[in-house]
Amino acid sequence: MLSIGIITGSTRANRVSPQVAQHILRHAEDRAGARYEIVDIAAYDLPLYDEPLPALFSPNYQTPQAKAWSETIHRLDGFVFITPEYNRGVTAAQKNAIDYLYNEFVNKAAGIVSYGSAGGGSAGRALREILVTLQVATVQSQPSFNLFTDFKDMQEFTPAPAHDQAIVRLLEQVEAWSLALKPLRAAA
Ligand SMILES: Cc1cc2nc3c(=O)[nH]c(=O)nc-3n(C[C@H](O)[C@H](O)[C@H](O)COP(=O)(O)O)c2cc1C
Repeated sequence: MLSIGIITGSTRANRVSPQVAQHILRHAEDRAGARYEIVDIAAYDLPLYDEPLPALFSPNYQTPQAKAWSETIHRLDGFVFITPEYNRGVTAAQKNAIDYLYNEFVNKAAGIVSYGSAGGGSAGRALREILVTLQVATVQSQPSFNLFTDFKDMQEFTPAPAHDQAIVRLLEQVEAWSLALKPLRAAA
């Protein structure tokens, strides 16, 4: 059975990222092909990255937070990144968490769920470029939620049902590619 993590994208007070993650989990939890769990980056409380060596060369993480984060990403087969848009890119918290790791991500698949005042498209594109560097294969479907129409008062997540089809497609694609890449992970 595949294990897939739904990774939140922000850590600030009043963030909506956990609501979006919960919505994706509700769509995912009855699926036969994979077991899904929410991975909240805020719970890892990662310091601003200052490891002495890049993760590509050294897995000797300096803090318990980094070790715990590494173990979680290592045991997962694939990911759904919940990606808010901050200043046309990904959040500093999401980029910081990603920068800690390398090998833990390689030859895995990911889907991106973005949101922002225009659906978070710029953040989604930025994240794709980051993930390709880590050899993560990003799937086509990208549910994109609009702050003005899919959130009440920009705080309460009330997604239009029209997004459901894109969510199901994303889950199908992440499972298919996570499974397809398994032999490469086994060979590594
Ligand atoms: C620092 C900052 C920068 C932002 N920049 C953008 C932006 O460039 N484009 C956009 O659509 N929304 C932008 N927003 C709005 C966020 O997408 C919105 O606040 C969203 O709720 C953030 O996700 P979070 O609640 O999970 O933190 C920005 C918000 C913050 C806090």
